[in-house]
Amino acid sequence: TTTRQFEFNIEWKKVTRLCHTKPLLTVNGEYPGPTIAVHEGDNVEVKVTNRVSMNTTIHWHGIRQLRSAWADGPAYITQCPIRGGQSYTYNFTVIDQRGTLLWHAHYGWQRASLYGAFIIYPRMPYPFSVPIQSEVPIIFGEWWNGDVDAVENEMMLYGGGPNSSDAYTINGLPGPLYPCSKKDTFIQTVERGKTYLFRIINAALNDELFFAIANHTLTVVEADAVYTKPFTTRAIMVAPGQTTNVLVTANQVPDSSGMFVMAAKPYVTAVFPFDNSTTAGFLKYKSTSTEKIEAPTLPTNLAFHNLPEMKDTVYATTFSKMLRSLASPEYPCNVPKKIDKRVITTVSLNLQDCPANKTCKGALDKRFFASMNNQSFVRPFKSVLESHYKNLTNVEYSTDFPEKPPTAFDYTGIDPLTGNMNTEFGTKLLVVPYGTNMEIVLQGTSFLNRENHPIHVHGHNFFVVGSGFGNFDVAKDPAKYNLVDPPERNTVPVPTGGWAAIRIKADNPGVWFIHCHLEEHTSWGLAMVFIVKNGVGQSQSLLPPPKDLPLC
Ligand code: C2O
Repeated sequence: TTTRQFEFNIEWKKVTRLCHTKPLLTVNGEYPGPTIAVHEGDNVEVKVTNRVSMNTTIHWHGIRQLRSAWADGPAYITQCPIRGGQSYTYNFTVIDQRGTLLWHAHYGWQRASLYGAFIIYPRMPYPFSVPIQSEVPIIFGEWWNGDVDAVENEMMLYGGGPNSSDAYTINGLPGPLYPCSKKDTFIQTVERGKTYLFRIINAALNDELFFAIANHTLTVVEADAVYTKPFTTRAIMVAPGQTTNVLVTANQVPDSSGMFVMAAKPYVTAVFPFDNSTTAGFLKYKSTSTEKIEAPTLPTNLAFHNLPEMKDTVYATTFSKMLRSLASPEYPCNVPKKIDKRVITTVSLNLQDCPANKTCKGALDKRFFASMNNQSFVRPFKSVLESHYKNLTNVEYSTDFPEKPPTAFDYTGIDPLTGNMNTEFGTKLLVVPYGTNMEIVLQGTSFLNRENHPIHVHGHNFFVVGSGFGNFDVAKDPAKYNLVDPPERNTVPVPTGGWAAIRIKADNPGVWFIHCHLEEHTSWGLAMVFIVKNGVGQSQSLLPPPKDLPLC
């Protein structure tokens, strides 16, 4: 095994976008952060040194962390934060995984600027039929002129929709549709006739995005670092935490500018004010003139970008359903055919009474919270993994997460005033034996503000065996599951006003966070934790904690 070592210094750096200069939290002064590139099978050591005064942690999103839960990163779930002046070395092995993932801070809303690509080169050659000229990482993020922590704090106190970001970015660059940003535009040079592998990552805090390139099609070959059956589309939908690899062939004839616009804008059905702006960059054909663009010409009609409309749920859900595992002899699809346990959980937004003497921004002078089965997750103050490993009895959690919605549930026709709106606040966990074949049905609700929730599971990939609109029907829907080639992912978009069923083989002992990857919803409590107990013998047991594990 090769060990690859990286050093991440968390430090402030002044960055200017949209003519606003502000200090950003960065890794090694870079925004976005550095790319980690390793090979399948490598051992990875990242020494994170916190050179700022606030706490931090880093999460390697989508890395299985087999037996190495200590290196997973979510604050208070698998570790206590790295405090100012401290270091912690994340140490893990990349086992049987290949493709594009991301890393990001997992403390508060620090992902706003602490994120980067995590690329795993495969042992075997790419299973694509065309040669790849080069690889192009495309990471979406957001730029906020204001202070992101203040936005989170206000949201928690008064519970309105968050103040939205001021721009979306491609590789940290907003692009020419925003004020003062023409020079901050991502441009990818291509050669006519060649094919490129775009590694597309959505690291944004709060927005699912559509992405397209004018006049070009995208051939999807991988999602969440698992190969898919290739299919061609005019646009992709990528939720926060998701990654999608596409092949792009430069097979068009450019005009005299030599440029084709690429663009991303949100897929949002919520009624609250969101940043609905568009980030753009360019594909620049090499054979044409080379003068640099001062004022790139942009089409005025956004349909030209191949982009769907902002609320196009049909496009978003049809796209998700197109994804299929490769399910080849080299890359089989190991979906559990039988299950030991089915958990049905709502994923919803709820209303809570406004704190006394405050005015809240939510409907009816209440504030928003979020929940799974009406449990609004309260983050503990000690690491759950540490408490679990040490068998501590004096803990801040209980192991009775409800496995069904608390009341008969009908997603249609719930009146937000009289319906079951009130969440319980608490830290209830689900505990399963090693090797449990578990199905989780994620049921969106219409209580409030229906929207698509990208649910992320730590420490495991899962198979999306079914999804649909309306209520999940336990008598009928399982018969329609795809148990042949369902997509294997780490983050699933639960359709607006609908459900998604995922199957997980719980074969990774440890403590694992499940949450909505829209950061505002995680803050509001749309999260839970499951514990996978040790199995038999060392190979089915969690490793002991590293010596430098931060303590609370
Ligand atoms: Cu990418 Cu728990 O997060």
